[in-house]
Amino acid sequence: MTERIRVAPLADLPDGRGVRVEAAGHRIAVFRVGGDVYALDDRCSHAEASLAEGEVFEGSVECPRHGSEFDLTTGEPGSFPATTPVAVYATEVVDGDVYLILERAEVAS
Ligand code: FES
Repeated sequence: MTERIRVAPLADLPDGRGVRVEAAGHRIAVFRVGGDVYALDDRCSHAEASLAEGEVFEGSVECPRHGSEFDLTTGEPGSFPATTPVAVYATEVVDGDVYLILERAEVAS
């Protein structure tokens, strides 16, 4: 069972930057890179900085506080000080609108 949550029109998301979305009890960082959309937990696994405020480059987002880079596809950290991945969420674009696809287990009650 999944929950599909509309975020915004793709055209309204800034290219190459993140936006913070509150959805189903989660704070989620959504990134548009060209026509692709990625979604990660917005709390850095090191000290909870907002990844939505990080800089995006080469398939990763750099945490704005201490600089760990997280892969936009896997959530894996590619550099210290973070050593734990952040959760990633499925996304889709349908008729120009961006959706988050959350599994039931990801939806807070
Ligand atoms: S808070 Fe993100 S690397 Fe420290």
